[in-house]
Amino acid sequence: MTDLKSQIDPDKVPQHIAIIMDGNGRWAKQKGLPRVLGHHSGVKSVREVTEAGAQLGVKYLTLYAFSTENWNRPPAEVTALMSLLVETIKGEIRDLNKNGVRLTAIGDIEALPPATLKTLKEGIEKTKDNQRITLVLALNYSAKWEILHATRILAERVKAGLLNPSDITQDLFEQELSTHGMPDPELLIRTSGEARLSNFLLWQVAYAELYFTPVFWPDFGQQELYEAILSYQNRERRFGRISEQLS
Ligand code: IPE
Ligand code: IPE
Ligand code: MG
Repeated sequence: MTDLKSQIDPDKVPQHIAIIMDGNGRWAKQKGLPRVLGHHSGVKSVREVTEAGAQLGVKYLTLYAFSTENWNRPPAEVTALMSLLVETIKGEIRDLNKNGVRLTAIGDIEALPPATLKTLKEGIEKTKDNQRITLVLALNYSAKWEILHATRILAERVKAGLLNPSDITQDLFEQELSTHGMPDPELLIRTSGEARLSNFLLWQVAYAELYFTPVFWPDFGQQELYEAILSYQNRERRFGRISEQLS
């Protein structure tokens, strides 16, 4: 096997990678297993990708774990996913601390079931001083929800006479997004062969490099992460300029 890791340019590793972890259900179905086992198997990928990313110097890893649209799944699957979250966070806190991983979340988390919210808040609190990498779980997240939420906050401020519409800049708007304080992801990965964003980080990925792989999430590990980063490093990010302008 070629050593992919050694081909990665350490000076060009993305600061922030976002991943739409998809294909757990199909992974399980292919093996004749219940969908929920696919979700359980996806936890190993989260561990492996977080550690591989941290070793390379990635500072933020944002994982789409549950969208606002996912409430429309069969109730038993929603319940199983919420329980898996509780179990996983509780079970991982020690290792997160050992590995310097700070846990945070984006999305409408206050609307999560109380047990999930409680465990999530504990996980966030107990890992808040870690600095090696920040693992951001997108939970009850959707980009349209987030953008509307920010818009309402700014509209209230205008209404109260605290803000002029002409003072609403990109920077000010970003301060009201749930990702405030984080750099935008330079690389967005989606597993399972689907080539859509499914309401994930629409504002923040405006200039991200998109990487789609057919691999199902439970089969995505460190080698697959290296491949994605190598693909990213082989692209020319022009930001509207022409090639000759980039030195
Ligand atoms: C991603 O896997 C996990 C969540 C959305 C929670 P899926 O459950 O969407 O798996 P597929 O897409 O049905 O295979
Ligand atoms: C997107 O995956 C949400 C998460 C990965 C949590 P879905 O499997 O829910 O997306 P669609 O339904 O295929 O767009
Ligand atoms: Mg899916």
